[in-house]
Amino acid sequence: MLLHHCTWQEVESYLADRTAVIMPIGSTEQHGPNGLIGTDAITAEHIAHAVGDRTGALVAPTISVGMAQHHMAFTGSMTVRPSTLILIIREYVESLSRHGFDRFYFINGHGGNVTTVNAAFQEIYAAASLAGGDAKSVTCLLRNWYMAPGVDALSKELYGNKEGSHATPSEVAVTQYLFPDTIKQVPDFGPPSNSGPGFADAADYRQRFPDGRIQSWPQLATPDAGKRIFEAAVDGLVDDFKTFEK
Ligand code: NI
Repeated sequence: MLLHHCTWQEVESYLADRTAVIMPIGSTEQHGPNGLIGTDAITAEHIAHAVGDRTGALVAPTISVGMAQHHMAFTGSMTVRPSTLILIIREYVESLSRHGFDRFYFINGHGGNVTTVNAAFQEIYAAASLAGGDAKSVTCLLRNWYMAPGVDALSKELYGNKEGSHATPSEVAVTQYLFPDTIKQVPDFGPPSNSGPGFADAADYRQRFPDGRIQSWPQLATPDAGKRIFEAAVDGLVDDFKTFEK
């Protein structure tokens, strides 16, 4: 059930017996030569919607632009500052907690968000604590869908060390499964840059990894693999969400 497809009365009746909500969060940033700029937002959103369908849980609107400053040398990438993202997360959570939600299950599609999302959770707990309330009156949990039980093993089985760490064949495959009309026909772009890990800033990132991917072979992505990865992610997160909601 999607929050934005409900009436307020439907949300009120949901809250009569449940107080957990799923919060998709992604990013809008370059994903190499054949990956969609929206990859991290699209994957998090659709996996979250499927987890919501399977559990009957309410799903909030996706936070689609994340902390992606290191991608800004590539055209079309968008970012918000860590401090902005902290406020967005805090105010999404506080809006919903005002109505009675108290368990927030974030399904994330972007590694660059992790530090900031965890800082946002601490800001939320600190605000409650400093106001003299119970710091844990609201509980937030972050799960990266690509690390869900079953997904990591499947990615390794499908792609081994060609999975890489950015613009991976697994995430590109999931978007190909969800939106086959967007599959890009790009001439073979060969192996990834052999630059070592680490970069100083956005310009240095582009210099080291000129086509945007990091150690990945996203040309190996297929919609069929994407379906398997998507279903593994949903299966893994459904069980985890049920435990969280108890
Ligand atoms: Ni990504």
